[in-house]
Amino acid sequence: MKKKFLAKVLSVMMAAALLTGCGGGGSKDTDTAGGSSDVITVGFSQVGAESDWRTANSESMKSTFSEENGYKLIFDDAQQKQENQITAIRNFIQQEVDYIVLAPATESGWDSVLQEAKDADIPVIIVDRMIDVSNDSLYTAWVGSDFKLEGQKACEWLKAYAASKDMKEINIVDIQGTIGSSAQIGRTEALNEAVEANGWNLLAQQTGEFTQAKGQEVMESMLKQHDNINVVYCENDNEAFGAIDAIEAAGKKVGPDGDILVMSFDTTKAGITDTLSGKIILNTECNPLHGPRVEEIIKKLENNETPDKQAYVDEGIFAHGADVDKVTVNGTDYTVTEVTEDVINGRAY
Ligand code: AHR
Repeated sequence: MKKKFLAKVLSVMMAAALLTGCGGGGSKDTDTAGGSSDVITVGFSQVGAESDWRTANSESMKSTFSEENGYKLIFDDAQQKQENQITAIRNFIQQEVDYIVLAPATESGWDSVLQEAKDADIPVIIVDRMIDVSNDSLYTAWVGSDFKLEGQKACEWLKAYAASKDMKEINIVDIQGTIGSSAQIGRTEALNEAVEANGWNLLAQQTGEFTQAKGQEVMESMLKQHDNINVVYCENDNEAFGAIDAIEAAGKKVGPDGDILVMSFDTTKAGITDTLSGKIILNTECNPLHGPRVEEIIKKLENNETPDKQAYVDEGIFAHGADVDKVTVNGTDYTVTEVTEDVINGRAY
């Protein structure tokens, strides 16, 4: 920001000098003519590449913040480590980027480094998961998902589905996301509340770190400890893929006519393909296409407008079959879409 402001001041001074030197002929905007000061430099600290969702999210950011669109994107993959993200942000500050975009691994631990960005006058935009900071002025804007609402929709669906099938008991296990991330906190909290409210048996709860390998490993161990699991609540698609492999390897069947119902979040193309077949019974959307949303924030800031401090993305619910057509959470109705080939073909990620 500071850098861009200085560039503007310099360009105005240069324009004034040209006007004087040329006897007042013309009013050329050297900022535009010079070109380079129009390029917006964005430093993006990405969590990692743990899931298909994350890959789609990185692609969305890269294709939005491209050279053709007038940006220089400095992309840093933190490999799921917060300390790497802190280092990346410090590097962005040193490089005097115009904007810092942060997709945080976990919610806590950002105060100091974001204070450094604030001191350097660099706006910070948070995307996807949220941060928990002592002072909201440490970031400019956030756009992402309402993870607790996602979990509540999923649990309301399970309640309605179980009633429609006259399921006598719900013996559920939870393969959680990365502990301390908003996606895990919200989805786990929603499940814990539903377990309490509906008298479900929560047999086990362990992190699968949002990866397929860990999802499979955790499911294998849960199956060894409990022979009565009839629902697995996977906190993302990749964990669900791993869990399905583990269940099938153990000689059990997933799906509405099988032994275990697999629930998931994300609705990636591969995820809803498994929902069409019934391997995943319910898939609650978590939309990763944040590039254009972050760009809208940056454009507002460039025009000296104030973006919304926090903006939630609208997200759907996608089921195998049409047993439940809507769920109600906190007084609001949400439509449940039955997955068909058309739904899959229309999926962009
Ligand atoms: O923060 C979004 C979550 O992170 C997605 O559900 C998951 O797939 C990703 O890794």
